[in-house]
Amino acid sequence: MRTHYCGQLRPEHIGKTVTLFGWVDRRRDHGGVIFLDLRDRTGTVQIVSDPERTPKSYNAAEALRNEYVVKVTGRVSHRPEESLNSKLPTGEVEIYADEIELLNAVRKQLPFQVSTSDTEPVREDLRLKYRYLDLRRERMSRNLQLRHQIVKSIRRYLEDEQGFIEIETPVLTRSTPEGARDYLVPSRVNPTEFYALPQSPQLFKQMLMVSGFDRYYQIARCFRDEDLRADRQPEFTQLDMEMSFMSQDEILDLNEGLVCHIFKTVKGIDLPRPFPRLTYADAMDRYGSDKPDTRFGLELVDVSDLVKDSGFKVFSGAVTSGGIVKVLPLPEANALISNVRIKPGGDLFKEASEAGAKGLAYIRVRDDGEIDTIGAIKDNLSDEQKQELLRRTGAEPGHLLLFGAGDVATVNKTLDRLRQVLGRELKLIDATRLNLLWITDFPMFEWNADEKRLEALHHPFTAPFPDDAHDLKTARAQAYDLVYNGFEVGGGSLRIYQPDLQQQVFETIGLSPEEAQNKFGFLLEAFEFGTPPHGGIAYGLDRLVMLMAGEESIRDAIAFPKTQQARCLLTDAPSGVDGKQLKELQIASTFKPKA
Ligand code: AMO
Repeated sequence: MRTHYCGQLRPEHIGKTVTLFGWVDRRRDHGGVIFLDLRDRTGTVQIVSDPERTPKSYNAAEALRNEYVVKVTGRVSHRPEESLNSKLPTGEVEIYADEIELLNAVRKQLPFQVSTSDTEPVREDLRLKYRYLDLRRERMSRNLQLRHQIVKSIRRYLEDEQGFIEIETPVLTRSTPEGARDYLVPSRVNPTEFYALPQSPQLFKQMLMVSGFDRYYQIARCFRDEDLRADRQPEFTQLDMEMSFMSQDEILDLNEGLVCHIFKTVKGIDLPRPFPRLTYADAMDRYGSDKPDTRFGLELVDVSDLVKDSGFKVFSGAVTSGGIVKVLPLPEANALISNVRIKPGGDLFKEASEAGAKGLAYIRVRDDGEIDTIGAIKDNLSDEQKQELLRRTGAEPGHLLLFGAGDVATVNKTLDRLRQVLGRELKLIDATRLNLLWITDFPMFEWNADEKRLEALHHPFTAPFPDDAHDLKTARAQAYDLVYNGFEVGGGSLRIYQPDLQQQVFETIGLSPEEAQNKFGFLLEAFEFGTPPHGGIAYGLDRLVMLMAGEESIRDAIAFPKTQQARCLLTDAPSGVDGKQLKELQIASTFKPKA
């Protein structure tokens, strides 16, 4: 029987005989004395064996190699002064091994060193292919245990303090309204028909409100076939919640309580409340983003009115055709950022053009206060306009001003991107800061230029502001996102529960009553039977874990993640299937490899 975990042993255990199970993290032979670091999921502890003091275990210890699985029974002792290790939680003790039993050996060459003491970075494809070994390593083991602590803390708060109950919803279901591409599952018993894997439990949780479960939550797996990024996975986990009879303020307040509880119990951090709130309009105006990283300043300044009549066509043209001109003011950046980087071919120009910008105009304020510009700006802005620009942007000697001119979306996207890149480069981000804020008052709809129609920004069940409901096209939604250091970690809304308003929303996004009936008829029908006012939110659990673990990739917060190509390197999924299976499903591929 195991008496302790390796990582638990402390001076208080000295004198005790303990039995441990684990993996050999490292074996060192110091001329007759063998030291083993024995590892389990809690950490490592030092085991000692030598022919004099522990003759029974010595032969076994000699035969051990890295990653062998062993059982060790021995006495906990104080380490001699010279081998105390203050960096290790177990660094004051060691175990004299009375017995070592080899439970299993390693039969193949290890693809990489697993040892905690090995700090060499390992290629991610290898880590993913041999994920079970990667998960033995300290970093991933720590991340998964943190994930567990977060989920545990969520459950305790929601269930024990707030009266939520967890209800599971189906995975084989119909398409949900989250707007990404669906993963489809063919139905064998209903040929030509498909289930869609849920993009979220949205429709079911709303029906649970109709059923009267007025505080629902679920740790729910969601599936979205969308382009992958460092913070996106095709299959991910939400903390999904829905509540009846609560106002937006009450929902946000309860959720702040939840987030504070998580940080307090898992990290011992007291977050200040209430969390700051920023409207969508203000966030876009000041940061060009609806998920601004507010750990640093570099706020954007709109100068459209100032330059709209200037002779500089790039600026005046942008404004007269309905666009804007905004500035990203960069203090003390003049000497650091060369023209080469801003001009075509430069890295900052490349960032801007990837966001859709055609060019990147700039003004420098030299140390003597002289304004340095080039070409068209120089010749076409009057001295008064230049002075006013400096005043509005707070520019002082040493400032570099970068301009975005064009349609609103492109300008914001460009300057948001540059702000983030340069915020990092100029070392303006304090990594120890923890900025959580609500973004509220999203617009109901955004323009889908490809399909030439409005589409719901959140989803079509989101309720408009009552005051705005007379003109839905421009209405603000009772929707909110939670942003954590520049990442959207959660989002939700109050829902529409009146059939006629719901109908108007469908009309606004160009969904005919027949289409709406076909897609969501079951929900609309449910709403006919006494629907409470309700609203909810869902958090991206993997993202939250990633951020709380201080990781930069969502893959480091998930035990068995997929690659950017949506592959599982461990099981080699997706894979071809047996012809018999396809036949049963009455499915044939139309794929033709390129010649
Ligand atoms: P939304 O689509 O905003 O809302 O999703 C909620 C949160 O889920 C996370 N998320 C993802 N995480 C990893 N990989 C992905 N591909 C991915 N997509 C989203 C984000 C996001 O904030 N049903 C609504 C919620 C509601 O209205 O109650 C919904 O799913 O952190």
